[in-house]
Amino acid sequence: MTTETKRDLVSIDDLSTDEIVQLFDHADRFREELRGWSDVCRGSIMATLFFEPSTRTRLSFESAMLRLGGGVVTAADVATTSQVKGESLADTVRVVGGSYADILVVRHPQDGAARVAARYAQVPVINGGDGSHEHPTQTLCDLFTLWKEKGQLEGLDVVLCGDLRYSRTIHSFAYALARFKANIVTLPYPGFELPQYVIDRLRRDFGVQASVASVGDLPGLAVGENSAAYLTASKPHQLALFTHLTPYQVQHIDAIYMTRAQRERHSGESTENYPRISRDLMRAASMKDARVMHPLPRVDEISYEVDSDPRSVYFRQAELGVPIRMALMAFLLGKIELTASPPDFLSTTFGSVAQRGGVSCGNEKCVTNGEGVRYLVRDFRVLDTSPPVLVCAYCGKETIALFIGNVKSGLFHCHNAAEAVRIESPDRVYFESEEQALSAEFSSAGGA
Ligand code: NCD
Repeated sequence: MTTETKRDLVSIDDLSTDEIVQLFDHADRFREELRGWSDVCRGSIMATLFFEPSTRTRLSFESAMLRLGGGVVTAADVATTSQVKGESLADTVRVVGGSYADILVVRHPQDGAARVAARYAQVPVINGGDGSHEHPTQTLCDLFTLWKEKGQLEGLDVVLCGDLRYSRTIHSFAYALARFKANIVTLPYPGFELPQYVIDRLRRDFGVQASVASVGDLPGLAVGENSAAYLTASKPHQLALFTHLTPYQVQHIDAIYMTRAQRERHSGESTENYPRISRDLMRAASMKDARVMHPLPRVDEISYEVDSDPRSVYFRQAELGVPIRMALMAFLLGKIELTASPPDFLSTTFGSVAQRGGVSCGNEKCVTNGEGVRYLVRDFRVLDTSPPVLVCAYCGKETIALFIGNVKSGLFHCHNAAEAVRIESPDRVYFESEEQALSAEFSSAGGA
């Protein structure tokens, strides 16, 4: 496997929908006899580099590799690595992905760090959670569980509840649900709504329509009026046309996915009266066939009395993490083949603009503003909109560029000026504001 042909799993987009379904088939095979596959990855070594706490993700990856007959080296505690001496993530993965390991699993507190690892390591990199950005292998566990429970994913009605802003599991899951044409109802704790860049992406890349939802029979979960939103990928509801008059009534729920408040990513916000799934709530008519899901760890969001309800599947999600991760690693190491085509749009290879001056990612938790500030070239995918929108190649956050500079002339123009449109792509530098352009020592074409 060369660096050019290696596959990584940084975002759930790095697998096509058909590949995901084929991984389920392999995972099912592995699951039937977990102990029967010790030849599949014999001789391969997986390294887990975890710069944040973890129980399930790291141990299930390690168990999966051991069950496939491979070996494991692990850095589970950042305080024991050279990061404390000032080593960059890029250097660490170059070394560990050199002769130490054949596949890396990385967890890191900064948004977009997994993409850095994937770009610098010679071997496949799996994102075990990067800041509040994505957690694609949790999504594989979630989809696999739901698929086994419901027999299909298309058209399901799924409620996402709790801290939708900072939960990386929610972001990857929402993108995947949209691809499987599920309908998503968001029930955020107020102030912790799905980030705008996620909603914009769901609309732009998956044609998801948003409208207001009403979930009258789930008291305690819909905190505040009109806090629910209905996001549909497949069946735009007639009522969605009149959202302000008649919110979409959620009458049937296939799954409710609860998340804990991601306190380690908050800046002291109160989470008083955080929603909770109780036995009473499970009696609501809309919950009759609902599966209760949670990526775990649970704090107080699901009361312990719900554990014995056959509709509770959160421990099953964790259990299925081993066979699905076995399938994923066997695939990325070339030990099993999938006949499905890869995604048309591999996020590692999109046409991007490297910005040495100009716009920087507006997300202060992005790795380009964090540990990568000393060595990463800022990199964006430019959307063909007016004004242009720049999507950070690492964390996915969007920035609007109102001005465009020309490196050859040293002049900058308003984004829609005729001169701006004529600047060749390699000569463009994007700016959010005139001040930013002036401080990069560009001069205004208008002489301002
Ligand atoms: C999640 C995570 O780390 O994002 N845990 C997990 O991997 N199962 C969810 C969480 O920590 O709340």
